[in-house]
Amino acid sequence: MRIVAVEELTVDMELAREVLDPDTGRILLGAGTRGLPHYADRLRSMDVHYLYVADDVARDLAIPATIAEETRICAEQALDRIFEKCELDQQPDYQPIKQTVRVLIRKVLDNREMLVNVCEMQCCGGDFLSHSVNVAVLSLLLAKRLGYDADKMQKLGMGALLHDIGVAGMPHSLLKKRQEFTAEEKLLYEQHAVIGYYRVKENWEVSPLSRSVLLCHHERSDGSGYPRRLLKGDIHEFSRIVGLVDCLEELAGGHPFSRRLSIQEALETMNGKARDWFDLELVKLFIDCIPACPTGTTVRLNDGRKAVVLAQNKGFPLRPVVRIFEDATGKRVAPGQEVDLLQLNHLVIM
Ligand SMILES: [Fe+2]
Repeated sequence: MRIVAVEELTVDMELAREVLDPDTGRILLGAGTRGLPHYADRLRSMDVHYLYVADDVARDLAIPATIAEETRICAEQALDRIFEKCELDQQPDYQPIKQTVRVLIRKVLDNREMLVNVCEMQCCGGDFLSHSVNVAVLSLLLAKRLGYDADKMQKLGMGALLHDIGVAGMPHSLLKKRQEFTAEEKLLYEQHAVIGYYRVKENWEVSPLSRSVLLCHHERSDGSGYPRRLLKGDIHEFSRIVGLVDCLEELAGGHPFSRRLSIQEALETMNGKARDWFDLELVKLFIDCIPACPTGTTVRLNDGRKAVVLAQNKGFPLRPVVRIFEDATGKRVAPGQEVDLLQLNHLVIM
C-alpha cells in the first residue's frame, strides 16, 4: 500500500486501510473500496486528507502504524468524557485516562522503529481530541528516546493528553476559527493554559508535574510564551517536550490561526524556532523520530521522476530507498525500478 493525498486519488486505486469516523469510530469507507475519487469531496469535508491505497505502484508495501486506529479512537473517547465534564464545570474522573496513558505507553514501547508516521496525524484544525492524542503519542516517543522510566512516562503522558483541557467550554466559533485571531480573541484563547491548570490543581489523580504541563506548555525559552513568560531554565522538561510537540502538531495539523503545513515545512519552521523557543537538543532528537519522507509517500526526484518511498536509511532522512513509477514527462512507467538514494549521490529529493 501507499499513502496518497485525497487530491491525487485515481480510479485504479483501492482503499487499503479503512477510514474511520473520528467522532464515532464507525467505518466510513471499508478496506477494498474502489472508485475513490468519487468520495474526495466528502473526505475533505471531514478533514481526511490522506488515504492508504493499494495500486500497482506499491501493492506489496506494508506500512506500520505508529499506534493502531482502535487505540487512537479509544483514547479520544476517554478524553472526550473529560472534556464533556469540564464543559459542564463538573469534576471529571481521571482514572480511565490514566489507563489510556498506560495503553499509549505500551504501544509506544512496542514501536521498535521509533519512527512517527506523520501521515496518520490527520487531525483537523480545532479538533482538540485528536490533537491531544497526537501530542501524547509524540511526547511519549520523545520520552522513550530520552530513556524515561515508566513513572516519568506516565506523568508526562497525563500532562500531554490533558494539556489543552482548558479550551473546554470556550466558544466553538473561537476554537474552529481558521483566520488569524483578533487581539481580544488571542487573549481569550491564551487563558486555556491557566483554566486547564486550575481544573486539575486540586485533583490528586493528576500529579503536580502533569499539572504543570497544562500551565506551561505555551512557555518559550526566550520568555515570549504565556502565561508567565518563563525563561528556558524555569520551564520543566515535561512542558518543553509538550510545547515542542504541540507546536509541530499545530503547524502540520492546521490548528487555529495557522495554515496547515507539509511536514517538511513544519520541521523547517521548528528548526528555525529551535534556538529561541525550544530546547535545541530536544528538537534534534524529535526530528530524528520523524522521517522527512515517510514510507509509502510520493517524492519527486531532481531528474523529474516520481517515486514512492519504500524504506528508510537510518541516519540519512533524505536518502531513502524508492521505487520509480512516473517518468519526467508525467507518464506512468511500470513500477519496479528500485533506487537506493544512499548509493546514487546524483539523485536528490526535490
Ligand atoms: Fe495549548
